[in-house]
Order: sequence, then structure tokens, then C-alpha cells
Amino acid sequence: MAEESRKGVDWLDVAWLLFLAGLAILPPVREVHKQLTLLAIGVVQIFEGRLIARLPKSGRTYTVLLKLLLGTLLLAHTGGPAINSSYYPIYYLPVVTAAVYFGPRTTLLWTLLTSALYCSYLYPALQEYELTTVGVTELAIRILFFFLAALVVNRFAVENRRQTSLYQRLAEQLADTNRQLRQAQAEARRSERLAALGQLSAGLAHEIRNPLGVIKGSAEMLHQKLDASNPLASELAGYISSEVNRLSVLVSRFLDFARPLRTETRPQSVTDLLDRALKSVAEQWQGGTVTVEYAYQEDLPLLPLDEDLCEQAFINLVQNAYEAMGSQGGTLRVDVAAANMNGRRGVEVRLKDSGPGIPADLREQIFNPFVTTKSTGVGLGLSIVSKIVDEHKGSIRLESAPQQGACFVLFFPAEEPAATQEGARASA
Ligand SMILES: Nc1ncnc2c1ncn2[C@@H]1O[C@H](COP(=O)(O)OP(=O)(O)OP(=O)(O)O)[C@@H](O)[C@H]1O
Ligand SMILES: [Mg+2]
Repeated sequence: MAEESRKGVDWLDVAWLLFLAGLAILPPVREVHKQLTLLAIGVVQIFEGRLIARLPKSGRTYTVLLKLLLGTLLLAHTGGPAINSSYYPIYYLPVVTAAVYFGPRTTLLWTLLTSALYCSYLYPALQEYELTTVGVTELAIRILFFFLAALVVNRFAVENRRQTSLYQRLAEQLADTNRQLRQAQAEARRSERLAALGQLSAGLAHEIRNPLGVIKGSAEMLHQKLDASNPLASELAGYISSEVNRLSVLVSRFLDFARPLRTETRPQSVTDLLDRALKSVAEQWQGGTVTVEYAYQEDLPLLPLDEDLCEQAFINLVQNAYEAMGSQGGTLRVDVAAANMNGRRGVEVRLKDSGPGIPADLREQIFNPFVTTKSTGVGLGLSIVSKIVDEHKGSIRLESAPQQGACFVLFFPAEEPAATQEGARASA
């Protein structure tokens, strides 16, 4: 009994009414209670779907209960003693309905209740008649058939429900896969466009770099030559030179990002590279005082790293931390420890600053190129870091809670079998 077919009146309901009308014209014909009960059964049948749609939890129970009570009423008005009524198969109605809607145990309980109601008519009958062995056998056969019908229909209904939910799950999975496929296609198209654009802009940047060098050289010469004789022209030449400097930094960083990396790895101490990066940023820093706290685990394994690229990655991260803390200064904590990630051994580096942290809406994007919140930033620092980390088969993630600073966590896998680093330092 499919859910949809129960929502409106369909030809099956009409057929039901015809069969009930057939019962109505069989004896006892003039028994008005019998006719009314049959009518009520017809009404319940027609409105069953709507009742279940309106009361999804209790509607099924009410339906079976109504059919059971109406069936019992029908027997009361159709039998000499009710237990002898030829209309007793009306009890198949609640039994089969329960078998369709419920699981095996509940179906058996409903059948038990139906049988009990049927047997309750024994009591008035026994006041007038005697119970014979034939009578008991007949009653037992009728009741056993109730159970038989319930079990057969229930088995079919449970299997049907199982298949339906299986198909539903399959359909949902299929819809999900389709959606993912469409998404992947859209992403692939976008990546193709971006790759083409990237190649074009890398070529353009490369071509821009040479004339920039010439402009810069000429501006510097002009600046020196005109120094005293024409102060205005000399000042303007100075501007040209400093702006060209900015442009060539941008172009170089862009090319760093766009060109495929050629990593030359050899066993390295990650803490040595970190120290070099920290020193290099600190030397050039002109903002507030930054205290660096070190917490390096002892006996760290050496890692297969490209010295220059990794130092560059650490410089970018440390530079960002210093810039985030700005003129107020703050604390940069550097933790390095052996770690395991997805079954791979390696080293985890945590860089946590006491700056303002990264707003939630920016966290997804900061590793994308040209995402910056700084007036003089290019937005390539973190993209380069993530590219370098990828080249080393490592990973980078951001842990940042509002007002608690940003914490970048990097993982570099170790060589197998890992050599141990001698003389690794531990200070906190
Ligand atoms: N430690 C940090 N604390 C707060 N915000 C950060 C931090 N690191 C990165 N960010 C945010 O992420 C953005 C992107 O950083 P990214 O290093 O890629 O570019 P940038 O620093 O703006 O420019 P540049 O290319 O010169 O490095 C930054 O503009 C900043 O908003
Ligand atoms: Mg940066």
C-alpha cells in the first residue's frame, strides 16, 4: 500500500466500497447497526491515507484500532451468538492493516489482540450454549488463520519497505554523486581557465621584469646626477626608483609563486632553518618589540627538506606574525615536536603569535593567491608557503580563535628510516 495511493480516493477505494456494499446486501439485511458499521468501515478505509498523512506517528495505530473495533461491532450484530457470525473474516482487515504498517512483533501483538477480542464473544455464548470439541477446533483454526495471514502479509510488507528504503538511499546517493560531478566539472573548467590565465600572467610578469630593471637603473642614475642641480627632478627620480622597487618585488614574488618549484631535498634540521628565518625577519623588523619563545623537542629527526624553500616558507610565516603584532609588538611562540599524521612520522611546527588573529570569514581564503588585508601586501606569502609545504608532501593548517592570535601548524614527513638529529636544542 503505497503512501501516495492513500492520499486521495482512487479506484481501489471504490472497489472496496463495492465489496462492502456486497456484504451489506447479504443477510441480515434489515439489521441497521450492521449497515452502519459497514459504512463506517468504508469511511475509515477512504480516509485512512489522509489520517496517516496528518498524524504520521499515531495515525497507523488509530487506523488499526478503528478497524478492530468496527469489526468487533459488526460481529455483535451479525451472529446468533456473535462468535458464530459468518462475518468473522472482517477481522482480517485490522490484522492485514497492522501487518502492512508495523514490524513483525507489533503485528503479532495486534493479531493477539484481535484474537482476544474475537474470543471474548465466547463468554456470552457459553452462558447459553456448551462448548464442544468441534467448536474449539473451529475457533482455533480461525485464529491460527489470522496469524498466518498476518505473518505472510507482514513478511511481504517488511521486504517491500526494505527494498523501498534501499532504492531511496541509492537514489539519494546517485543525486549526491551527480551534484559532486557537476561541481567537479565546474571546478575543472575554472581551474583550466585559471591555469591559462596563470601561464599568461607569468609570461607577462617575466617580460615586465627586464624593462623594470632598466627603468630602475636609469632612475637611480638620474637621482644621483641631478642631486644638487635640480632637486625637484631628483626627488621625482627617487619616487620612480622606489615605486619600481615595489613593482619588481611584486613581480618577483608572483614569479616565485607561478613558476613550478624545483625542490632539492637533503636531510635538514628543521629547527636550524626556523632559527635562520626568525633571525632574518627580526633583523629587518622595525615595529614593536617581539619576544620569541622557543619550545623545541630534543632528538628531532632530520627531515628531507629543500633548505632555501623551507627557509622562505618560515620567513613568510614569521613575517606575517610580526606584521600582525605590528607596532604594539607581542609574543611569537614556536613549538617544534615529533608527530604522527595519518600514519606518517614527521615533525610538527607550530607558530603562534599574540596578534589579533584571523577573522572567520577570511580563514578559508588566506591560502589563495592575492588575498591580503594589508595596504602594501601582495597576498602571495601564504600561497607560496602552502605550495612549498605541498612540494614536501607536508600539510599546513590554521588554528585561530578570535582575540587569541593566529597559530599556523605545519607538518613535514620524515624520511624512512628516520635519522635522528644530533644536538637538537630544547629551550622554552
Ligand atoms: N599571523 C597572522 N595574523 C593575522 N592575520 C594574518 C596572519 N598571517 C596572515 N594573515 C592574513 O592573511 C593574509 C594573507 O597573508 P599573505 O602572507 O598570503 O599575504 P600578505 O602578508 O598580505 O602579503 P605578502 O604577499 O606580502 O605576504 C594577510 O593579509 C593577513 O590578513
Ligand atoms: Mg605575508
